[in-house]
Amino acid sequence: MTTTPTTMTPACPPDTLASSDAVLTVDGLRVRFDTEEGQLYAVDGVSFSVPRGKMLALVGESGCGKSTTAYSILRLIQKPGHIIGGSMRFFPRDGHPIDLAALRDKDPLLYRIRGGAISMIFQEPMAALSPVYTIGNQLCEAIRLHQHLSRSQARQRAIAMLGHVGIPGPAARLSQYPFELSGGMCQRVVIAMAMIGNPQLLIADEPTTALDVTIQAQVMGLIKRLQGEMGTSTLLITHNLGVVAQMADEVAVMYLGRIVERGPVRQVLKHPAHPYTMGLLASLPGLARSKAKLPAIAGAVPSLSQRLPGCPFHPRCPHAQPGRCDIGTPPAMQSFSAGQYVACLRANEIQPGKVPQ
Ligand SMILES: Nc1ncnc2c1ncn2[C@@H]1O[C@H](COP(=O)(O)OP(=O)(O)OP(=O)(O)O)[C@@H](O)[C@H]1O
Ligand code: SF4
Ligand SMILES: [Mg+2]
Repeated sequence: MTTTPTTMTPACPPDTLASSDAVLTVDGLRVRFDTEEGQLYAVDGVSFSVPRGKMLALVGESGCGKSTTAYSILRLIQKPGHIIGGSMRFFPRDGHPIDLAALRDKDPLLYRIRGGAISMIFQEPMAALSPVYTIGNQLCEAIRLHQHLSRSQARQRAIAMLGHVGIPGPAARLSQYPFELSGGMCQRVVIAMAMIGNPQLLIADEPTTALDVTIQAQVMGLIKRLQGEMGTSTLLITHNLGVVAQMADEVAVMYLGRIVERGPVRQVLKHPAHPYTMGLLASLPGLARSKAKLPAIAGAVPSLSQRLPGCPFHPRCPHAQPGRCDIGTPPAMQSFSAGQYVACLRANEIQPGKVPQ
């Protein structure tokens, strides 16, 4: 993996939080995949902050770059991918800020941070558990990697953590293999593994996709409860705005490798400023603020290898203005209302619910 080291700047950009309020500030992150199809800019100048002790949800259609953003934070991007720009400043509770983008690939600090101060629940949770080791083995291994505990102390901690995530009979579970547990129970084990190091930042990438609907609600409730009890900050990746409405404090909406809107959840869901956010909301009647629905978002997401001029959303946007939205560089993020930012040239002209004929 190649990175472009960045220098730490004392001043925060205007659209990100000050270090005292944020656990992570990502600024201008760019990730490119060099493929036979061409150069794919999967993440193309993404900036956001995860507020300390709160939950930021990153939403957007499949392929918009959510997982690539998450993998970048933990520096898990593999070839043919490269982080080609930006900074990712992590502000530990104690100690100096660390620009994760500037660390060398094999920096020992990265190994300490992964699964320690920052942990992740991956999009494919079962991949996080080895089928050939017991739950106890895997949990104790995770504990002993980051904490100086004896075997019996690690075992006690594992039992306590399994109990904490709602697994009945936790001591007996330690000797079981993942295949002996239901999908929901396995996901609780994965969450226990992610939380066992008492992380300051939890990244949860679509943590419930493999589960049925009732279990999904329980697991999301568990993540939220643990966040409150352990004071964790969470970056939740999802394409489900219903989950965002119930769980998150802040939301960032991603389209084609860029954040197009972000702000407090209530504000963004009630008064969306970007036509793409409006389109996403229109497909959720329960969340739409009026009965006048926008049409479903027309067209397909363009290929990442085609870098269109102007606003990346213009080929699909019902409000696109020829000669304005399809020229020049993509619109910059601008303040729309208190805490709400939008990357749309016409945000102040568009009336929600009114689509040009
Ligand atoms: N290893 C890779 N090689 C080439 N392209 C990749 C690679 N990983 C991701 N991409 C491309 O980067 C883009 C973003 O992918 P990413 O997995 O981040 O999307 P996502 O928003 O997480 O989607 P989903 O909701 O389906 O999980 C996609 O176009 C994908 O094809
Ligand atoms: S800038 Fe133009 S094309 Fe882009 S979202 Fe706004 S109105 Fe639509
Ligand atoms: Mg993904």
